[in-house]
Amino acid sequence: GGGKASTWRAGGNTRMVCALLPLSCDLLGFLSVRRMGSVSEELSLVPLHQRPELLEACAKLLGEEWGKSRASRLHMLQRSSDAFPACLLLLRSRGPSETPAAREGPCELVGHARLSRVVARPHDLFVESVVVARALRGQGYGRRLMEATEQWARARGFRCLHLTTHDKQHFYAHLGFVLGEPVQSVAFLSPAISSEVLRLFSTPSGAATATTTRPRVPAAPPPPLPPLTVPPPPPPPTVIWARGVLAESSKQSLLETPHRDAKGLPIFWMKKDI
Ligand SMILES: CC(C)(COP(=O)(O)OP(=O)(O)OC[C@H]1O[C@@H](n2cnc3c(N)ncnc32)[C@H](O)[C@@H]1OP(=O)(O)O)[C@@H](O)C(=O)NCCC(=O)NCCS
Repeated sequence: GGGKASTWRAGGNTRMVCALLPLSCDLLGFLSVRRMGSVSEELSLVPLHQRPELLEACAKLLGEEWGKSRASRLHMLQRSSDAFPACLLLLRSRGPSETPAAREGPCELVGHARLSRVVARPHDLFVESVVVARALRGQGYGRRLMEATEQWARARGFRCLHLTTHDKQHFYAHLGFVLGEPVQSVAFLSPAISSEVLRLFSTPSGAATATTTRPRVPAAPPPPLPPLTVPPPPPPPTVIWARGVLAESSKQSLLETPHRDAKGLPIFWMKKDI
């Protein structure tokens, strides 16, 4: 709701340099209202599959940050669905503050995050492709994007978010994420997927089934969940060089990680209970 609006820093950059979209945001649930002089601003989080007309703008936003081909980006974005992966868009609309809501003004794409299911962890989701439009960074939108994504997931019965990052571990730590262990995310669930595999993705209480495409109504708070699994074993020791001496360390910190991505680059695994 708008309760947190007062904690926002005063908006500095008012340029509209990312996609400015002449759309009505009437149907969106709004997250917060911020008043800046004679202008008020509303933020909304909406799945891309409910706003297919934003596909191109979203591909552009991601393309400006990560190189991949436009075709593969569009392909991934077009898969967005309530059955996951779900591409969530942070939108803002601005208008004269005397109107009760700025929602009647045009919508601007501010940020994106994608959520996928996690193998054998029915209450967990994997977050990736978190991005805020370049011109709008450093103004609190990244925080709002992550907080709204958490709320969206929690309202659907999920309880834990996982992510990886090469270099934004301090940002995520600031938002309450802690170092975690690798999990296996699932990029795409098809209706043709075997029931044996689907069993791994048993739907959390209160959420729709994994194959439905109907919009979901916010679920009632699910009952407390039993512990899911025993904690995983500690990661294997990592060999590091310190002052010419070969040392062994299995410790990970926000400065050092034992994990590597497919290219061998250091990667931090993080998670947050929501
Ligand atoms: C990472 C990103 C989403 C952050 O968005 P943002 O709008 O600039 O972040 P915010 O302004 O909302 O910052 C939120 C808080 O995190 C802090 N923060 C932001 N970046 C930080 C960083 N790199 N290290 C530590 N803290 C950071 C801010 O100081 C702010 O603190 P506050 O709320 O207590 O004032 C944005 O920089 C981005 O899109 N980067 C490029 C894409 C990318 O690297 N994505 C992450 C992939 S893992």
